[in-house]
Amino acid sequence: MRNILITGGAGFIGSHVVRLFVNKYPDYNIINLDALTYAGNLENLKDIEGKSNYTFIKADICDYKTINSIFSKYKIDGVIHLAAESHVDRSIKDPFSFAKTNVMGTLCLLQAAQNYWEGDFNNKLFYHISTDEVYGSLEEEGFFTETTSYDPHSPYSASKASSDHFVRAFHDTYSLPIVISNCSNNYGANQFPEKLIPLFINNICNNKPLPVYGKGENVRDWLYVEDHAKAIEIIFHKGKLGDTYNIGGFNEWKNIDLIKILIKTVDKLLGRKEGASEKLITYVKDRAGHDYRYAIDSSKLKNELGWEPSLQFEEGIEQTVQWYLENEEWVKNVTSGEYQKYYKEMYE
Ligand code: NAD
Ligand code: TYD
Repeated sequence: MRNILITGGAGFIGSHVVRLFVNKYPDYNIINLDALTYAGNLENLKDIEGKSNYTFIKADICDYKTINSIFSKYKIDGVIHLAAESHVDRSIKDPFSFAKTNVMGTLCLLQAAQNYWEGDFNNKLFYHISTDEVYGSLEEEGFFTETTSYDPHSPYSASKASSDHFVRAFHDTYSLPIVISNCSNNYGANQFPEKLIPLFINNICNNKPLPVYGKGENVRDWLYVEDHAKAIEIIFHKGKLGDTYNIGGFNEWKNIDLIKILIKTVDKLLGRKEGASEKLITYVKDRAGHDYRYAIDSSKLKNELGWEPSLQFEEGIEQTVQWYLENEEWVKNVTSGEYQKYYKEMYE
């Protein structure tokens, strides 16, 4: 039996990780700890909420006292840490909340693990989920590898870089058993419609302008969220202590080309004329500090642990668009209230 604390399990990636672990490992107790910020949504986990190996706790990772008590109450021996403020544009408007959650929150968890495990690290693991954005920006050529120097440019990536450094520092200083993975951009069901793909699917459906930053030439390396969850499962069980693994799909797209695929897919599934929604493309002011290109070399993960992405991009995009079309209620719920204010401030 293992008691595994998954933080941020009500968010986009976290909910896919929680579902995978709860369904596949009935012998594990999965404790999902989430503060339910604007990005956290228990609707994402409706299908597993009644399972006997699943517990949800609403708590803030920055609440050090509560985090310590959760480690002892649930006898936590494994942590998969996903809770974070995750959107670059929000970090530009409010960097403090990113430093608080991503840096201080991670530190609270590390120290709580250190306190509870008291130097007995047998069968213990602190697994920190991070991003490729810590490596900065690439030109036309090359890939990020596990040894690429950190060079973050946004408050989001700076806060994630800082949290990665704290995790490694706990390993080097106190021998805390850690592993870190840095993943490229994810897409799939349940992603909050502030990120490019769900925002644009929603806008195409509603005939709203598609705000393309700059010239739309920036490049991202897209990975289907369930492939990320499977990589996390493998690294959690087989990753080498103290090591870092890059996760990516070898799937680079210029934003504008990806947007045209989204338009084509939504138009097709809604029975609109091909390309009918291209008129919605609207070039807007570029994002400040906009990283040009991200591209991950995930060959270490493939060679050492045997992970590979399973889904072709066009297939993944079609499934994703289909999910958003079939889950109008979910979209309606998350885009009411606070989202309207965010959208106005950001885009109008
Ligand atoms: P998300 O914003 O969808 O979800 C974050 C979750 O964390 C939410 O459920 C939120 O309620 C929770 N949370 C936020 N602050 C909290 C706090 N103080 N205490 C407890 N819970 C809190 O994010 P995501 O896209 O699912 O990303 C999850 C993790 O993966 C993050 O660490 C992110 O940096 C990393 N990551 C994301 C991507 C991506 O493309 N989305 C890529 C690589 C890495
Ligand atoms: P995003 O989904 O925010 O992920 P990240 O910035 O973490 O890579 O953005 C993906 C790309 O899409 C990025 O180059 C910025 C661009 N983008 C737009 O052009 N318009 C938008 O409204 C958003 C949200 C993103």
